[in-house]
Amino acid sequence: MCRAHLIAPSVLSADFGKLGDDVQAAEAAGADWFHLDVMDGHFVPNLSMGPDVVAAIRRATSLPLDVHMMVSDPGRYAPRFIDAGADWMSIHYEACPEPHALIADLRTRGTRPSVAINPETPVAVLAATAAELDMLLVMSVHPGFGGQRFIPESLAKLSEARRLRADLGARFLIEIDGGITVENASAAAAAGADVIVAGTAIFGAPTTPPPSPRCAATSRRLEIGS
Ligand code: DX5
Ligand code: ZN
Repeated sequence: MCRAHLIAPSVLSADFGKLGDDVQAAEAAGADWFHLDVMDGHFVPNLSMGPDVVAAIRRATSLPLDVHMMVSDPGRYAPRFIDAGADWMSIHYEACPEPHALIADLRTRGTRPSVAINPETPVAVLAATAAELDMLLVMSVHPGFGGQRFIPESLAKLSEARRLRADLGARFLIEIDGGITVENASAAAAAGADVIVAGTAIFGAPTTPPPSPRCAATSRRLEIGS
């Protein structure tokens, strides 16, 4: 079966000085959703955006906003982000290992509930929860920062999430987040990702420095030697 994959640029790597312009440029380039990373400096060692920034992005685009809550107390902050325009919301299993009530609350408030798992957390912890979800988010880097390297073991977790969905007869989407590049995106899609988040690969691309002369000289040597 041919499945369509959704691309969700992570605005964490956009230029916050011209966020509206960057969001509109990504939309014009074919983005399906926007992925918004919320960090509280406690669940992860970084701070990012609050609900006012989400509301500003909401004004800049009509595409779905996929809010990733990397916070220790998602129940406390979720309503403000939903009011700001979150269409989808991922809370972390590690912050909320008994998420049934919060999942139900998110749905009641009109957002699509999702649970995210860190690289060291097995998919199996969601066996009793997955049927209630609209999405399951597999982190393919340790959360907190853009621009990290993809953890290859994440591909097996995507396949496991797909098996869990089939076993449950569920319909949740499977999202992958972290270290996605042009080179590995198709492997992630083939392994089971329906939604592919990419930050640096989309917004960071124009500012990537060109290879240094030393690197260029090295690659020329490799060509000559091969
Ligand atoms: C990491 C965030 C990711 C990040 C992805 O904690 O959850 O969404 O922005 O950025 P890249 O694609 O650069 O890894
Ligand atoms: Zn994220």
